[in-house]
Amino acid sequence: MSNSKLRTLEEFIIQAQNRFPGATGELSQLLRDIGLAAKIISREVNKAGITNILGSDGSVNIHGESVKKLDLFADQQLISALDRSLITCMVISEENDGVVRLNHEGGKYIVYLDPLDGSSNIDVNVSIGSIFSIYMRPARYNGKLLEEDALQPGIRQVAAGYVLYGSSTTLAYTTGMGVSLFTLDPSIGEFILSESNITIPEHGKIYSVNEGSYNSWPEGLKRYVKYCQEEDPDSGRPYKARYIGSMVADIHRTLIKGGIFIYPASKSYPTGKLRLMYECNPLSFIIEQAGGMAVDRKRRILEIEPESIHQNTPIYIGSVRNVEKVMEFLEKYPEVPDEVKKATKN
Ligand code: AHG
Ligand code: MN
Ligand code: MN
Repeated sequence: MSNSKLRTLEEFIIQAQNRFPGATGELSQLLRDIGLAAKIISREVNKAGITNILGSDGSVNIHGESVKKLDLFADQQLISALDRSLITCMVISEENDGVVRLNHEGGKYIVYLDPLDGSSNIDVNVSIGSIFSIYMRPARYNGKLLEEDALQPGIRQVAAGYVLYGSSTTLAYTTGMGVSLFTLDPSIGEFILSESNITIPEHGKIYSVNEGSYNSWPEGLKRYVKYCQEEDPDSGRPYKARYIGSMVADIHRTLIKGGIFIYPASKSYPTGKLRLMYECNPLSFIIEQAGGMAVDRKRRILEIEPESIHQNTPIYIGSVRNVEKVMEFLEKYPEVPDEVKKATKN
């Protein structure tokens, strides 16, 4: 590609906006704000290694604290970027128990954030990410902003995406018209378009789940994973097992290579561990927009009516054929641990 063909994230967003004559440009601004915060976080994440080396002759505490600080640093950067442009009225973040009301009460958008996903991986120089999910604030006759305004199902997201701080920094987002992927070129400090309209393979040969909890899984999942491990050259089995422990990184691989990522309900996490509003919904929106599928077992993730801002959900997400297959197993072998039964009343 010659340099004249390079498209930055900013250019891409503006060009996309220009296709809609009535667009106000506010969503574009919001996405650009997130892009800017992502660059700052990326720089800091890269520095974290140096900080750790510098701290390694000191106590273990410095190491631990620096990890904790990065979560909060990412949270602050994203929230202040959103606050600056007066478009967002409310932010819900993994790092804050309640909703965060921004200075502009009249702002049109509500944003959910997982500012740093997979943060335990910072310690070991493994990929981490940021996740965002954007909703329109519902119109209300008295204009008052309520926490329940944020409780909207994932199908109502107007945009969502993630930033992966890996061997390079990648940003993926969707506004419901396909998924676009950008790579940060650190030499010019810009996200450059790598691929628009990316599609996930219909079938993949990788399964991704924390097998340490095998004993407390639903029976259908145990059988499915055995199926993935069986020999069957026609369907490419045995599949490979890959599990990074940063959802963003596991989902990014699933998007590119296909396969399935699973975080089930289990004895330790009877309603699942991952968060519906700032992990599962945005990543399900991305995967669906790329032609994949995401369910909690039976239900489409994006159709779950949320009851609280930090609620958990089990998730089975990835290539359509892999997800359909695990659903067959879950239906055929419906036994779940007692703890799951109690927590979900089924
Ligand atoms: P976070 O760092 O935002 O708390 O998220 C960690 C999540 C997710 O990224 C990952 O998929 C999962 O936790 C891993 O959990 P296990 O260690 O239980 O497998
Ligand atoms: Mn997370
Ligand atoms: Mn997090």
